Amino acid sequence: MNVLKSFAKVNLGLRVLGKRPDGYHELETLMHEIDLHDTIEISSAEETSLHAPGMSSEDNCNNLVIKAYEMLKQRFPEHIKNYHFKLHKHIPLGGGLGGGSSNAICVLKFLWERDVPEGTDTKILDDLAASLGSDTNFFLQGGTALCLGRGEKIVALDNKQYFFNLLLPDFSCSTPSVFRVYAHKEQDRLGSLEDLWKKGRGLGENDLRHACLEAYPKMKQVMDSLGDSCGKIHLSGSGSTLYSYHTSMEERDEQYRLLIEGLKGSLALKVLKSQSVFRL
Ligand code: C5P
Repeated sequence: MNVLKSFAKVNLGLRVLGKRPDGYHELETLMHEIDLHDTIEISSAEETSLHAPGMSSEDNCNNLVIKAYEMLKQRFPEHIKNYHFKLHKHIPLGGGLGGGSSNAICVLKFLWERDVPEGTDTKILDDLAASLGSDTNFFLQGGTALCLGRGEKIVALDNKQYFFNLLLPDFSCSTPSVFRVYAHKEQDRLGSLEDLWKKGRGLGENDLRHACLEAYPKMKQVMDSLGDSCGKIHLSGSGSTLYSYHTSMEERDEQYRLLIEGLKGSLALKVLKSQSVFRL
């Protein structure tokens, strides 16, 4: 049996540049891999199946892991073998942390390395990843990257260590619902996302913040419950996860203390500590 870690991401900046003729939005977003992860156990089997303990049967059926498997099997029917996938979820669904996409790419990469004939053009892998979603290609390499186009064009950046508090509301946000209410506004920018990343400041702006609050009034209640900490809290993707980022663990821990104190035991929001992932 193989056991894989499937890491989450946060968006350290997300700019919507406009709407495209294909209905998607042109994006510029800075994605950063963090150590919050799901675990995927993969074992050889007579027939391919997926079991995700605690997940509804509908979510099991629509799971991107099985979609990724089927797409690769269709492309390489002679080579892709049968497997049982057991998925232990820790990354919230519909949380803007890319959990489903990360799971799919984790499995796609595993199958690619194990079953696809050596020397096969990796452009096929990129194209398959892109057809699974808009934030999937990022997970082919992880680390930190500027993601352009629909999100699938990746420019890798040098990685840096950050420390996070993740604020996980007890509800999810649907990406299509948030984009549906998004209204384009020209914004004043502090600089390019790449420059902000290099300088290590001004991160966390998210053009979807207003749309998320409009689509989910509960998000506004969450923000209001944060009181003085609110200015330091940013939205990941289309929500519902919020986060604070810090350059030192001490600073992060101090913010964690303030958050927990401010929330006064509210059960509607879970706060988790996390940090950047470094791949060797
Ligand atoms: O491609 P993905 O499944 O991740 O996107 C979910 C939905 O989010 C799309 O169907 C679309 O409504 C919206 N979306 C968008 N522009 C993007 C990415 C996603 O409008 N760049």
